[in-house]
Amino acid sequence: MKFKGSDNYVATQDLMLAVNAAITLKRPLLVKGEPGTGKTMLAEEVAQALDLPLLQWHIKSTTKAQQGLYEYDAVSRLRDSQLKDVDGGERVKDIQNYIVKGVLWQAFTADQPVALLIDEIDKADIEFPNDLLREIDRMEFYCYETRELIRAKHRPVVFITSNNEKELPDAFLRRCFFHYIKFPDAETMKNIVAVHFPGLKQELLTSAMKTFYDVRNLPGLKKKPSTSELLDWLKLLVAEDIPIEALQSKDDKVAVPPLVGALLKNEQDVTLFEKLVFMQRNNR
Ligand SMILES: Nc1ncnc2c1ncn2[C@@H]1O[C@H](COP(=O)(O)OP(=O)(O)OP(=O)(O)O)[C@@H](O)[C@H]1O
Ligand SMILES: [Mg+2]
Repeated sequence: MKFKGSDNYVATQDLMLAVNAAITLKRPLLVKGEPGTGKTMLAEEVAQALDLPLLQWHIKSTTKAQQGLYEYDAVSRLRDSQLKDVDGGERVKDIQNYIVKGVLWQAFTADQPVALLIDEIDKADIEFPNDLLREIDRMEFYCYETRELIRAKHRPVVFITSNNEKELPDAFLRRCFFHYIKFPDAETMKNIVAVHFPGLKQELLTSAMKTFYDVRNLPGLKKKPSTSELLDWLKLLVAEDIPIEALQSKDDKVAVPPLVGALLKNEQDVTLFEKLVFMQRNNR
């Protein structure tokens, strides 16, 4: 199994290396990077390229590790026991019927190797990663209700993404291969745009990219626009048929771009940008 990139996803050389290293080591690939740099999409694309079904687990602040293993649905069992006519009372006798399998259980017991995405692990509480140490390491866990050991038939290819909202514990980090997706340089970004807008006019792309990197490089910006925001913006520029002149100021200085709401997401940043444009104009 080797990942060599895909038609829909631009993977840099070091990202491909990282994916393959994690597969070789049989360890989860922990992917970090700014929002919108393709962390979630990476798992989808690798799964597709390696022809593995992808099981996804999207983590929220309320998610508990146990939910990824299994949950015992005691309420349904109680209800069934009161309504005796369900299967003549047979169903309720077997506790197996009330075990709700989580993503890890499904991944471990699948008949073929699968890819498993644990998306945004930093959203959960601090105990979450610690609670999954053994499962990730040994690829097994014990179901106390049915007294069975669930062990992975095939080791899944695991992707874990994080937006760095919380630090992950050292013991957890030790078990992962780590990769930070750097913000794409102009060349890589051009390739990413080409994947999404194959027929985009070169001139428009050049001006849009220049404006985009100018905005990103503004010192003091609260939220820098991401890859996905550039793509949104380009989509709008094309849809609204914005002329290139609207993006370029004659003297090659920054101008407030049209539809800037696709790139800047709070009023302080917009004000900051407008101020800069204003100052540059006055300095001419
Ligand atoms: N390398 C890439 N190749 C192609 N498209 C990309 C790439 N990186 C980002 N994109 C585009 O950006 C979008 C956002 O990517 P994705 O949802 O994977 O980001 P993310 O890193 O998971 O963000 P978040 O941290 O907010 O969840 C994708 O839907 C895709 O259109
Ligand atoms: Mg994501």
